[in-house]
Amino acid sequence: MIFSSLTTIAVCALAGLTQGAPTTNLRSWEEAYAKAESVVSQMSIEQKVGLATGMGWEKTLCVGNTYASEDPYFPSLCLQDGPLGTRFASNGTAGVSGINAAATFDRKLMYKRAEIIGNESRGKGVHLQLGPSVDIFRAPNGGRGWEGFGEDPYLQGVAGYEYVTGLQSQNVIATAKHFLLNNQETNRTTSNSVIDERTLREIYAWPYARMLDAGLGSVMCSYNLYEDIHACENDKLLNQLLKEEMGFKGFVMSDWGATHSTVPSANGGLDMTMPGDVIMGDGLSYYGKNLTDAVERGDVSEERVNDMALRIAAAHYKMGQDKGYPETTLKTFDRQNEPEVVVTSDEHIKFVRDIGAASVVLLSNDGILPLSSDGLSKIAIVGSDAAPPSVPLTSSLNEEECTDLACNDGTYAMGWGSGSVDFPYIVTPTEGISRRAGESVEVAHSYDDWDTEAAAEVAQGADIAFVFAKAPAGEEYLLVDGNNDRQNLSLWNNADNLIQAVADANENTVVVIHSTGPVLMPWIDHENIKAVVWPGLPGQETGNSLADVLFGDVNPSGRLPYTIAKETDDYAAHISHEYNIEYTEKLEIGYRHFDANDIEPLFAFGHGLSYSTFEYEKIKVNTHRGKHDTLATATVFVKNTGDVDGHEVAQAYISFPESAGEPPKILRGFERVFIKAGKQTKVNFEFKEIDLSIWDEASASWTVPEGEFTVHIGASSRDIRQSATFSL
Ligand SMILES: *[C@@H]1O[C@H](CO)[C@@H](O)[C@H](O)[C@H]1NC(C)=O
Ligand SMILES: *[C@@H]1O[C@H](CO)[C@@H](O)[C@H](O)[C@H]1NC(C)=O
Ligand SMILES: *[C@@H]1O[C@H](CO)[C@@H](O)[C@H](O)[C@H]1NC(C)=O
Ligand SMILES: *[C@@H]1O[C@H](CO)[C@@H](O)[C@H](O)[C@H]1NC(C)=O
Ligand SMILES: *[C@@H]1O[C@H](CO)[C@@H](O)[C@H](O)[C@H]1NC(C)=O
Repeated sequence: MIFSSLTTIAVCALAGLTQGAPTTNLRSWEEAYAKAESVVSQMSIEQKVGLATGMGWEKTLCVGNTYASEDPYFPSLCLQDGPLGTRFASNGTAGVSGINAAATFDRKLMYKRAEIIGNESRGKGVHLQLGPSVDIFRAPNGGRGWEGFGEDPYLQGVAGYEYVTGLQSQNVIATAKHFLLNNQETNRTTSNSVIDERTLREIYAWPYARMLDAGLGSVMCSYNLYEDIHACENDKLLNQLLKEEMGFKGFVMSDWGATHSTVPSANGGLDMTMPGDVIMGDGLSYYGKNLTDAVERGDVSEERVNDMALRIAAAHYKMGQDKGYPETTLKTFDRQNEPEVVVTSDEHIKFVRDIGAASVVLLSNDGILPLSSDGLSKIAIVGSDAAPPSVPLTSSLNEEECTDLACNDGTYAMGWGSGSVDFPYIVTPTEGISRRAGESVEVAHSYDDWDTEAAAEVAQGADIAFVFAKAPAGEEYLLVDGNNDRQNLSLWNNADNLIQAVADANENTVVVIHSTGPVLMPWIDHENIKAVVWPGLPGQETGNSLADVLFGDVNPSGRLPYTIAKETDDYAAHISHEYNIEYTEKLEIGYRHFDANDIEPLFAFGHGLSYSTFEYEKIKVNTHRGKHDTLATATVFVKNTGDVDGHEVAQAYISFPESAGEPPKILRGFERVFIKAGKQTKVNFEFKEIDLSIWDEASASWTVPEGEFTVHIGASSRDIRQSATFSL
């Protein structure tokens, strides 16, 4: 009951969509286990172990492959990166990053995005997509924060739920990662995460609990240690927390090379070792023959190996992959130039453009935006972040290409690492703006970030000057200028000086930032900076999505999925270089810390402007204790008081009773609603039992605390418009 809080939301999300492709063949866990049992019961120990053992790293089709079984038949499963699309594949779509999906604060868009990812990976014959990433964006410079859904566990939970539902509707198994407490890249394989039981559950395990409600098929355990034991052989994390307490029915696979043993891993709850090798490429394995030997010795029970095989087979049958699943076709070293299945489509490309526009966060605007084409004769565009990259943004199979996007020197639309995909093309900001502005408008540019004089010259005399800047980041195995986690929160490539130079030269300066996370903005008070636009990492249609918002074809409604602070030290958590990474901030992660310590952010969690204005009124709260799983509901009327139609993202934050020991307020609901100019709409929020519960360490259970709750509804975590109290 505790873990069923989002069920009704999913039904709504489904109802609002036209289905792109199969939701057929899906089975319940019960049906899937029955089918798995009938097959696995005929298998030898070797065959069962084969299901649990990766093989053929970089020699076969996918980044992970399991052994096939002939009699009884069970196929080799293809496991492929990553959270935003199919890696090492051409003719696919390079869509928006997870952090942009979060910035939409829109469940339907989150679902549709995952449905498209699933459609494409199914088209390539991928059985397991290695996403979503739900690693909490703990330190603001964490290298992989952009792959997931931001600093708030509730937002991560909703986005993770929609991802799993959308992806698995296409018969592809979702893999939620990284379990658990892998929140930085620095020392990710050698550090030990230290955390209390309550924070562990309320923040870091929370998104997984929500995804279990969506029938999540698999979980990837992480590189780091917890209680001095590697996550992938951690009985407390895998067996006790995930499988027993939370009731996970799917299987646990290791991150690539995160397995460190045979017996402790098998007994600690690891169901599949990936990519199979001890060290990638060495052909040795902790599972395979060594696991069979361990069963024969009695160090691992046969029952445990049955359980591994059953869990894996059940996930496969649950997703209905035994009926008409497409053949696997991906790029490999041997077949780089063979024709590929085309999985992208005009519909997918249009969706990427639309969700890209829906995830643009307008941080500030003195009215200069939207641009009107009337009277516009010259636009200046400054910065390499608006330029085409000098190398094709395609994957690492060929050394001369751009290894997992780490070498991108042009406009920034995706971070680097295993979470990146090939770009079939990229519409640069210059192209997007030029096309939309039309031929009568002159667009002049200067792309050299170090030539501030040239920048000022181009900016001078233009009706408006756009200055583009970036802050890249990515996964540990690639270092760019010493960064995977970012070494600082500043913009790259001399950008602060460039912005200053442009703003000094043009009184209508607009700053556009493509960043993997928060950055410092020392120039923010410059009087000539009239707007700051934050498009995140929008993928291949980046320039078009941006132009849609700049010219007002789309009224912006993106919201920050993390806090942008004034100073680095304002944040609760930072990258640790110690063996023990101490989660001392406990529940006060992200905006909760700013609230608890009265620190004013530069731009608050949940912030984002519109070209319209919205008023909130008539909050009402009802309680339903004892009657439903929903313990309270709140309604509010939101009115569009501006001149243009648009979306508002109404957010509900809960203040718990004092005795609960929670931070001042916590996100527990959001609704993105479209409201025509002058019209109003009623927005509903439902608070389930879990939404109003805390993890009570004394009783080791989720408990609704006694006392007075307050619900705050507003346009951001720092823009509360209506509040009401209730008791249960
Ligand atoms: C498929 O991808 C290849 C390699 O990028 C490209 O040459 C070809 O034009 C693509 N085909 C289609 C139909 O998009
Ligand atoms: C992907 O979706 C398209 C459009 O609905 C559909 O025609 C196609 O069959 C789907 N692909 C797969 C592999 O399911
Ligand atoms: C597998 O077992 C053999 C024999 O006991 C042992 O020598 C080898 O180190 C083991 N391999 C791994 C990867 O543990
Ligand atoms: C921040 O890091 C970037 C990337 O390594 C570097 O180019 C820049 O100089 C650094 N900025 C500061 C202020 O240290
Ligand atoms: C962590 O990384 C730093 C370098 O960033 C290194 O000096 C240190 O030894 C590492 N610590 C551990 C425990 O791996």
